[in-house]
Amino acid sequence: MLQSETAPDVRGSALFVYLSAIVAATSGLLFGFDIAVINGAIIFLREQFGLTEFQTEVAASSLLFGCVFGASIAGWLSDRFGRRRILIVSALLFAASALGAALPRNLTELVAARFIGGVAVGMASMLAPLYIAEVSPARIRGRLVSLNQMAIVTGILLAYFINWLLSYVGPHGWRWMFASAAVPAIAFFIALFFVPESPRWLTENGRESEALRVLTRVNGSSQALIELGQIKEAIAEETGSIRELFQPGFRRALFIAVALAVLQQITGINTVLFYGSVIFKEQVGGQTASSAIGANVVIGLINFLATIVALWVIDRVGRKPLLMLSAGILGVGQFALGAAFLLEPPPAILVLAVMVCCVAGFAVGMGPGVWVVLAEIFPTRVRGRAMSIATIALWTACVALTMTYLSLSSAITVTGAFWLYGVMCVTMFLIVWLATPETKGKTLEEIEKLWRKAG
Ligand code: BGC
Repeated sequence: MLQSETAPDVRGSALFVYLSAIVAATSGLLFGFDIAVINGAIIFLREQFGLTEFQTEVAASSLLFGCVFGASIAGWLSDRFGRRRILIVSALLFAASALGAALPRNLTELVAARFIGGVAVGMASMLAPLYIAEVSPARIRGRLVSLNQMAIVTGILLAYFINWLLSYVGPHGWRWMFASAAVPAIAFFIALFFVPESPRWLTENGRESEALRVLTRVNGSSQALIELGQIKEAIAEETGSIRELFQPGFRRALFIAVALAVLQQITGINTVLFYGSVIFKEQVGGQTASSAIGANVVIGLINFLATIVALWVIDRVGRKPLLMLSAGILGVGQFALGAAFLLEPPPAILVLAVMVCCVAGFAVGMGPGVWVVLAEIFPTRVRGRAMSIATIALWTACVALTMTYLSLSSAITVTGAFWLYGVMCVTMFLIVWLATPETKGKTLEEIEKLWRKAG
């Protein structure tokens, strides 16, 4: 039998786990920054390169297409080469894209650099939560995975702030907007050399003594041996083939994961987050550019604060109640937002108040909660590939939402669009309530057993 390599009663170190989680979550900062930075940069890009409407859309969405691609390769790569190595690759891509997007001479070069950034975001968006879930002890796993969301919303806020500062620099400010992401990217790259590989991936690849060393530092030596036993037992039952995901029990897990991923997007939060200032400026009326940007900052701040609440409660109240509450609040918010647009013009303060309610509702549950559930409901040997499938679905839905919001609101009115997102919130509520199991406090192996029983 394997012995823990340190003294028999070595205790786990919370600091070690938090550090590993924080390092992985740094990619969330880049994720948030990269998706939000374009909001400010796009105004200058249009002028500099004389972009048409269509070219502007291409410039704005090239990152999102990269995300879909990144999510589709990261799973396979991380099952094959390890979580940490592929996170390191994503850090390099983040840095390359930050510099590439700061230096382009034309639209094509910019689009290429942003696409590469998207590949990094897509890879890291699935790998960071997955890695964190695989190194964390069950009792605080929700909170640690939610750190990633904390980093995402911090990145969004940081981008709004840096954009605002750099908007005073002149016509080349946008180059610095993109370049500034190189700093956290390089820090992320260096920090990754100081965190361990996932113990689950190590076990799966026959590197048990290394896995035990990591588990001992996380859980203490006696619990580490028990966990290693459970991991081995679970892996022994897995075929490792992606076909396993389509067997009755796991098929349900896959269905829930894809549904939650898609619904996180088509419930519409990113219309508020990406188009907030456009909605204010063009659809509310009586607004200046700076009051519209100011409204955006308020929204970013609420997003940030409500995520902190989620972090504290997710391991106490559980994923399910939080996700249901979140879908409920967001749903009410979307219906109310739709109703507000029946007034002509809708009062700005009312629209802002309802948007704040929507963002708070999303951030307290669906924002972090969906990523937590995606990272924990699949069996170890196919977790990377399975999470890839869910993440591709998420990014595809994100592209679909952001590309259709403006045309949808001209086709069925702004009210109609928000009511449609409201209906999606009801769907989200029902899927969580009726089909999603509670995973709070269970080890990843116990969660896996749950599906086997269901199958
Ligand atoms: C979502 C993003 C969203 C962000 C906002 C994330 O969980 O996946 O689409 O922009 O939260 O805070």
